Amino acid sequence: MNYTILHSCLPSSTRAGIKKCIFVDPNEQATLIKLHDSYFELFLSEEEIQEAVGSLAEKIAADYKDEVPIFVGVLNGSFMFVSDFLKAYPHDCEVSFVKLSSYQGLTSTGIVETLLDVSEDIDGRSVVILEDIIDTGRTLQELVHLFTNTNVKEFRIASLFYKSEIYNGEYNIDYVGLEIPNRFIVGYGLDYNELGRNLTAVYQLKQTDMMNLVIFGKPGAGKGTQAGILKEKYNLVHISTGDLFRYNMKNKTALGQLAQSYIDAGDLVPDQVTIDMLQEEVERNPEAAGFIFDGFPRTTAQAEALDQFLESKGMMVNGCVALEADDEVLTLRLLERGKESGRSDDQDESKIRNRFAEYNEKTAPLKDYYTNQGKFHSISGIGAIEEITERLSAIIDQLPK
Ligand code: IMP
Ligand code: MG
Repeated sequence: MNYTILHSCLPSSTRAGIKKCIFVDPNEQATLIKLHDSYFELFLSEEEIQEAVGSLAEKIAADYKDEVPIFVGVLNGSFMFVSDFLKAYPHDCEVSFVKLSSYQGLTSTGIVETLLDVSEDIDGRSVVILEDIIDTGRTLQELVHLFTNTNVKEFRIASLFYKSEIYNGEYNIDYVGLEIPNRFIVGYGLDYNELGRNLTAVYQLKQTDMMNLVIFGKPGAGKGTQAGILKEKYNLVHISTGDLFRYNMKNKTALGQLAQSYIDAGDLVPDQVTIDMLQEEVERNPEAAGFIFDGFPRTTAQAEALDQFLESKGMMVNGCVALEADDEVLTLRLLERGKESGRSDDQDESKIRNRFAEYNEKTAPLKDYYTNQGKFHSISGIGAIEEITERLSAIIDQLPK
């Protein structure tokens, strides 16, 4: 495809709020835009949206032709949809707005606030909620609560966009404009941290085709050796959280000092500090074809935080691999290694067994977490180094990008 990088030839409505150059195709529809720190690619054109809005208006009009419904738009996101919907609505109708908020950045916070309540006299009237998008359904739940103590004649829900894969299914959605996949979108009223609402088309967060791995393995299972080989083979950057901490603390970086202050106070370093270190490391390596995360996550909360961070960069964990090995074999290996290296924690069998127990306890919930996402793979870590690399590669080569 032959793209011109030209910001100034965009329609002014598209240009506003966009800081950087944009890839524009010959019909001048921006195909790739940047908002804050993230890239978005064209998902629905203005025409496709208008068609969906028009057919929603038609369907609803057929059901309400004998009365005057009150359409209640949900601010802020629905303002463009409500405007176009009303223009397409062929009969008499009234309009009002409520304001709710649950999103921050790229994910639902789970807390829904009511900022503007229904004020009109709605007793005995038919109300149709006009939502821009239904995602988890939390906002919808709050909306339904807003109306449960009123004496409306009837209450229905219409949503222009609907993420069916993630919706909790609690209430029936009476009218749907377009079912869309579970990807973050902006434009046509929808924002990414308040930017993008003025776009007339809808854009989807750009996913990169990186290969990001989470690697687990008991002490002695050969994780470090294999990570070292894989990073060369696949042009990945190996991020060992232990090394990252030592680097930041030794060099007294801002995050290193912050981590040190928690450690000095005898507290656990909050996950966010680790995530911030990971973020810096990811940003230091813009050319990487992917990352091997080693030593993080260690808890389900950390796995969720990692997913959230990667999502904000249009990245994801493609797969999680665990190097399994029998405790007896590993114990012998470590004791052997301890003799050579003099590392005290490799010389004491009870300490070794404690580390195994801790590994089992900590990784069990993570196995479940990644299994539920269909991303968990385990391989035997026993055998020659090349054999194990082959087993790992067989998995990596099949991971979805
Ligand atoms: P829910 O409560 O998870 O269903 O989220 C609903 C609200 O979150 C919507 O009214 C939007 O304001 C916002 N939202 C959900 N998904 C997206 C998206 O993909 N882009 C922008 N905002 C979204
Ligand atoms: Mg909304």
